[in-house]
Amino acid sequence: MNTLLILLNGRMIDPANSLDRQADVWIHDGRIVQSGSVIPSEAKVLDLMGKWVVPGLIDMHVHLREPGEEYKETIETGTRAAAAGGFTAVACMPNTDPVNDNATITRYVLERASGASARVYPIGAISQGSQGLELAEYGEMKKAGIVALSDDGRPVADSQLMRRAMEYASSHQLLVISHSEEGSLSRNGCMNESVVSTRLGLKGIPNAAESIAVFRELALAELTGASVHIAHVSTGESVDLIRSAKGRGVRVTAETSPHYFTLTDEAVEGYETNAKMSPPLRREQDRQKIRMALRDGTLDAIATDHAPHSILQKNVEFDHAANGIIGLETSLPLTLALVREGLISESRLVELMSLAPARILGVAGGSLAVGDVADITVIDPEKTFVYSREMIVSRSQNSPFIGWQLQGKAVLTLLAGRITHNEL
Ligand code: DOR
Ligand code: ZN
Repeated sequence: MNTLLILLNGRMIDPANSLDRQADVWIHDGRIVQSGSVIPSEAKVLDLMGKWVVPGLIDMHVHLREPGEEYKETIETGTRAAAAGGFTAVACMPNTDPVNDNATITRYVLERASGASARVYPIGAISQGSQGLELAEYGEMKKAGIVALSDDGRPVADSQLMRRAMEYASSHQLLVISHSEEGSLSRNGCMNESVVSTRLGLKGIPNAAESIAVFRELALAELTGASVHIAHVSTGESVDLIRSAKGRGVRVTAETSPHYFTLTDEAVEGYETNAKMSPPLRREQDRQKIRMALRDGTLDAIATDHAPHSILQKNVEFDHAANGIIGLETSLPLTLALVREGLISESRLVELMSLAPARILGVAGGSLAVGDVADITVIDPEKTFVYSREMIVSRSQNSPFIGWQLQGKAVLTLLAGRITHNEL
């Protein structure tokens, strides 16, 4: 660790410092240090000609399933999948078993994460057991290390409870992350409500189930002055609401996931349970609006909603299958496709996948300045591969992208200068 590591000739893309140019990065003792003019003979040198060197990617929305569902994923396997996908940090949702609604569970997660292949930032529950009835104890969880609050997976139905949550959260300087879903509209639905759901004979979930909830969160953020982050935006209406709230100065940020800008509800055809998630895949016009919102800044971040499930939960009738797909190992190539299509720039990709998540969560990262911790991702934008079951590092394989030919890959991931993934 104390040897000098030198990344030579890479294209450094570092929007936090307004940099996009060929540059060498010197790493010593886990940090980026000033480059010298002569390479010392004991240094380890990697020639990265043609590769991009970017601040370590941060996924602000993953499910690591530990404690309680270790057969789907553990903190160890999930962070290894993260490193393989180019991530140096993940924020993990509290819908484990038991729910992370108290300092003991928060501390347990952090203990299990020490020495893992990525930093793990726990998110605490908004309500006790995410049952939506009583607020959890935010101060204790914050002291133990949570970075935000969410009842992800179990939307908060009671608006008064959400109002109190926002007030209490802002007094602890904690961000509220909303899984925006109006349960009375989505109940019993298992895919997007559209001509496809009619054709398949499946009960649909209308876009309004999301946008009604997004509107409520924006109104409550405005009322309380709290910061709110809208998770996994899937509809065009949500995009319009968020854009207009930002215009009024509401403290709102938002993310979407690669599947929402890559797929539509057509992917459900054939009762494909690996295309089932909450919120569901939507129509082409929603996909287009989400893509434009990534470009114009209405959407701040890309997060995977990595949701591992075993074959037992997925190889069943569509309406009984579990919601969610894994995403850590496909997020970067699917986002690089937006760069190749000319929709976003390389530096916007780094903002969406590293800088913005760091800023939204208030954690370190997203920068390659001298003195920063050396959390670094090296990307080969040309590398093509077929995403296969054999290569999946995650403990679960529930992905709709298996068999896809993808382009662009993390070929080296460094966590405080330590190599957590290497296929150079
Ligand atoms: O599809 C989803 N899966 N959406 C959620 O909000 C929860 C997640 C899970 O935990 O499986
Ligand atoms: Zn969610």
